[in-house]
Amino acid sequence: MIKYQNEIPTKHAGLIQWVEEWANICQPDQVYWCDGSQAEYDRLCNEMVESGLAIRLNPAKKPNSLLFRSDPSDVARVEGRTYIASKTQEDAGPTNNWIDPVELKKTMLDLYTGCMKGRTMYVIPFSMGPVGSNIAKIGVEITDSPYVVVNMAIMTRVGTRVLDLLGTDGEFIRCMHSVGKPLAEGESDNGVWPCAPIDKKYISQFPETREIWSFGSGYGGNALLGKKCLALRIATVQARDEGWMAEHMLILKLTNPEGKVKYVCGAFPSACGKTNLAMLIPTIPGWKVETIGDDIAWMKFGADGRLYAINPEAGFFGVAPGTSMKSNKNAMLSASKDTIFTNVALTEDGDVWWEGMDVEPQGTLIDWHGKEWTKDTVDADGKPVKAAHPNARFTARANNCPAIADNWEDPQGVPISAILFGGRRPSTIPLVNQSLSWEHGVFMGSIVGSEVTAAVISDKIGQVRRDPFAMLPFCGYNMGDYFKHWLEIGKKTDADKLPKIFFVNWFRKSEDGRWLWPGFGDNSRVLKWIFERCDNEGEAVETPIGYMPTVEAIDRAGIEDEVTEADMKDLLSVDVEGWKNELEMVEKDHYPKFGTHLPAELSKQIEALKARLG
Ligand code: GTP
Ligand code: SPV
Ligand code: MN
Repeated sequence: MIKYQNEIPTKHAGLIQWVEEWANICQPDQVYWCDGSQAEYDRLCNEMVESGLAIRLNPAKKPNSLLFRSDPSDVARVEGRTYIASKTQEDAGPTNNWIDPVELKKTMLDLYTGCMKGRTMYVIPFSMGPVGSNIAKIGVEITDSPYVVVNMAIMTRVGTRVLDLLGTDGEFIRCMHSVGKPLAEGESDNGVWPCAPIDKKYISQFPETREIWSFGSGYGGNALLGKKCLALRIATVQARDEGWMAEHMLILKLTNPEGKVKYVCGAFPSACGKTNLAMLIPTIPGWKVETIGDDIAWMKFGADGRLYAINPEAGFFGVAPGTSMKSNKNAMLSASKDTIFTNVALTEDGDVWWEGMDVEPQGTLIDWHGKEWTKDTVDADGKPVKAAHPNARFTARANNCPAIADNWEDPQGVPISAILFGGRRPSTIPLVNQSLSWEHGVFMGSIVGSEVTAAVISDKIGQVRRDPFAMLPFCGYNMGDYFKHWLEIGKKTDADKLPKIFFVNWFRKSEDGRWLWPGFGDNSRVLKWIFERCDNEGEAVETPIGYMPTVEAIDRAGIEDEVTEADMKDLLSVDVEGWKNELEMVEKDHYPKFGTHLPAELSKQIEALKARLG
């Protein structure tokens, strides 16, 4: 017998039946339908504080905010346990983990059986995108984690208005989640973050049936299923079938001193600067950046033949370390209240702290493991210990961001003028270059390389890997076919209506290891050139790798001492040997993986680039 904690708030028979089926499998103590209200949010927060899972921060420092510490094994996305379970392995392609869907469902059903004993099963109806927008999609997540419920309440639009829109037979994406830690009779978590061991974790997408099954992790994109699982892995498949785009991109609104507006998207791999660019405060006078989104963009063609983007999310799940009033004031202010912090350090006065916050830690802190910490704390080998995990995050409401654009929830989306690709590359890749055409831009996107960051659990952190379109862990089908989809999008409209494509790299280092480019607010100097290029202005020279600014074309007023002309020449040079080496790696280790799925246009692009490099 299923015990319902509240009345079922829908007459959608398919939804009710789906919930019942899972309740019978997972055997929770009770089932609760979320309404997305403030009262519900407050109640769940209080319950988690009482049970010791969360710490309420000092309201004088961080009003209405909580701190969580996760299990040390559950601190980031687990790409090694993430699966695209399409009918055939070929559909998942060479860059995704694949298990036969029938076999995977059998394995996971065993794990799900009885997995919610001693817990409440929450049902979260949510919309990705403004409720009712024709670009938006509805999902329903089942979870046994109240942490997930309160995070979803910030990151998506949750509640009764979503059920109203679903009606009695509307379509929704089925998202199933459990932390995978059933409780025995009388047992409780005792304030310990529940999750399953790594070999029991599964983050599974079933593209044909548009289903998501997640087990064993309570962290970030593994558990907040609207984000990477739905808005990217499942949405890429829908986008391919329906002729639109689901991308790992920030969206920003750029206004020049004359008041002219352009919208720019940017795809950078995880922890490579999307949130920072989306909230940037320009260091050049008269320019303004406002935020539309910081992680995901859904783009569709408008009646005028241009691409329009919406941000499917309603909040930011941002990287804390490195975020300061200097580097990203708007993110700091977004997270100044109504925020959920995970794996940051706790100060003596009930506030939060992390590395790179640009304030000295005072006295004794409690680190993300829950241990006492001072700035002199070292490990057994004498190495300094970090107080916050490198992938510690804040979950903050978009509406609390001072830079949020007033039209960020426009259901029509915003017309995109430029798309940026980038990554962390200490060498070879210049500060900025512009593609010669859409096709050339797709080629550049397909070969993006970047250093692996702490956003993923990996033993390869710091090593450069290919991360095409910053989508390596997020594409729900064969990446070769995804390249083809990009090429096809480029044929659907007039060339002059397509966004212009740029490549940027804020992470170039000098031989002695310092950043060559100051980054952050000074990235506005590059955005200015991009803005001008979109109007066919902005001085550029044609080089083998595309159009590049002359040294004078990048506004350096005020930073001439910091970034010398020699630095600029270095940042804007074409490293012919480096590029040849790059192409050799692409031809040897990257493109061959895709076999017959690699579009011929991209092979042609590589030949053409080789010829131009000489
Ligand atoms: P995800 O949320 O994982 O998708 O990350 P993201 O792409 O939004 O990256 P984010 O903006 O959070 O930046 C990640 C890290 O890169 C932070 O520690 C930033 O301080 C740092 N960072 C961002 N922009 C710059 C930059 O222009 N220069 C340098 N040197 N570091 C930067
Ligand atoms: C990323 O890794 O790109 C993130 C964090 O944005 S997560 O939501 O965990 O995927
Ligand atoms: Mn991201």
